[in-house]
Amino acid sequence: MSNASQRIEVCDGEQMARIIDEMWDDRVSFAKYIIGFNPSDQQGDALAALDKHDAVSVKSGHGCGKSGVESVTILHYMSCRTFPKIPCTSPSKHQLYDVLWAELSKWHRQMNPLFRDMFTWTKEKFMHKEHPEEWFAVARTATKENPEALAGFHADYVMRVIDEASGVCEPVFEVLEGAHGRLETKELMCGNPTRLDGTFYRSHTKDKDSYKGITWSCLDSPWVKQQYIDRIFRKFGKDSNIARVRVYGLFPLQEGDSFIPYALVEDAMFRDIVPQEGQPVVFGVDVARFGDDETVIAIRRGDEFLPYHVLRGKDTVQIASYVRALANVHKPIAIFVDVIGWGAGVHDNLYHAGFPSYGINVSESPAMEPDTYRRLRDELWGGMRDWLQERRGRLCNKYCESLKGAAIEDTEDTLIGELTTPKYEIPHGKIVIESKDKLKARQVQSPNRADAHNLTFAQPMASYQVDESPEGNEDYRNQPLDDEAGY
Ligand SMILES: Nc1ncnc2c1ncn2[C@@H]1O[C@H](COP(=O)(O)OP(=O)(O)OP(=O)(O)O)[C@@H](O)[C@H]1O
Ligand SMILES: [Mg+2]
Repeated sequence: MSNASQRIEVCDGEQMARIIDEMWDDRVSFAKYIIGFNPSDQQGDALAALDKHDAVSVKSGHGCGKSGVESVTILHYMSCRTFPKIPCTSPSKHQLYDVLWAELSKWHRQMNPLFRDMFTWTKEKFMHKEHPEEWFAVARTATKENPEALAGFHADYVMRVIDEASGVCEPVFEVLEGAHGRLETKELMCGNPTRLDGTFYRSHTKDKDSYKGITWSCLDSPWVKQQYIDRIFRKFGKDSNIARVRVYGLFPLQEGDSFIPYALVEDAMFRDIVPQEGQPVVFGVDVARFGDDETVIAIRRGDEFLPYHVLRGKDTVQIASYVRALANVHKPIAIFVDVIGWGAGVHDNLYHAGFPSYGINVSESPAMEPDTYRRLRDELWGGMRDWLQERRGRLCNKYCESLKGAAIEDTEDTLIGELTTPKYEIPHGKIVIESKDKLKARQVQSPNRADAHNLTFAQPMASYQVDESPEGNEDYRNQPLDDEAGY
């Protein structure tokens, strides 16, 4: 790696023309000298690959600097080509506007001023000030139903940039294929390798002759903190699917190894859905048990999971009063509490205070599909998988540690890891999910977050009676927050 002092700070028009000529296909020099972006070795390889190849596909672990490379590539193309068009897409608006566009803006600000001042912004578009209609990069999400958002890009120079490419659906790729440059067409695809089908997968397998494929492992990236890697290894094991996808930049092992396929969870985590306001809310409460100190409360509103809550070092009375306070905010129609161990105390407390609490003993027989699952625990895992397979809901990768605190982004993706790590067997024709003891034996942490989320599928919502308030206590919705317990 070189250092930022090599940056060219000022230049005149003549020098600029020379730089464009020299760096026409030298993205690493452009990154270093014009933007002040010092690429890691991995990033340097990807930038150099784009100099030589029309289509480059980067699969990588989390946080290795994909968005950085995409931003630099866009700035280079905007600066060194005339009248380029650069359609940029990703499966979610958040990824596009809050991540990619934010990164592009950060590096644009740092560019050599002569280059920087040629361009301007809107929320969607990064463009040449004098030719905004013909010289631009544009950020557009597209869906199966509306792939046309990415149709109709024609120019001498076209570059397609696809972020989180594993999650981009096939009709969108088909439409993007039509974005063609008369003199040059470039394509940069980047993503975590989450799924075993689709264009991104094929770019590293069956169609690998048409792409320059590159793999980045977090182990070789200076931008990834060692603690991140250590924690994933410690929680889920070095061979888990989450370690493959998020650390090594490898595709997950075939479905069948773990009960819930990785791609289903990842899709649900980043899916854009209409907020489910007004839909019924249910809670799933997994209470800490012996030797295991985390209580998790999952909240599902219709098909949308809200940030979950994690409590540590609390007794059953404190946990129950926390759940009651949360219930006063979200007004659930049902609270499913795992009653094995200390959970029974929490359920009793909620129930007798008039909350719609239902004690769930996950070691009992399945409630609805006794021919498919061995126990209720297995059926709840099945409920989660079925719901994910319907591909319409959203999981939330954020959690709260107190009632009034802001939700925290789970950068270690603990919920994704917990949902995708347990394996399964079908010993006597019935599905059995890997037990906590077996998970522990292979040093995988107890999936408390997953269990709490699964509990929300304890019964189909339609079967609840909203007015079934046990013991006729006063309306719980009017109860104040429990100040005594400190919430
Ligand atoms: N060359 C660089 N110099 C300085 N900081 C960098 C560089 N490349 C990336 N970073 C920083 O490292 C962090 C991770 O980079 P980035 O977001 O590009 O990774 P990513 O691979 O896209 O992550 P994700 O897997 O979340 O999509 C960001 O904070 C980014 O600003
Ligand atoms: Mg990224």
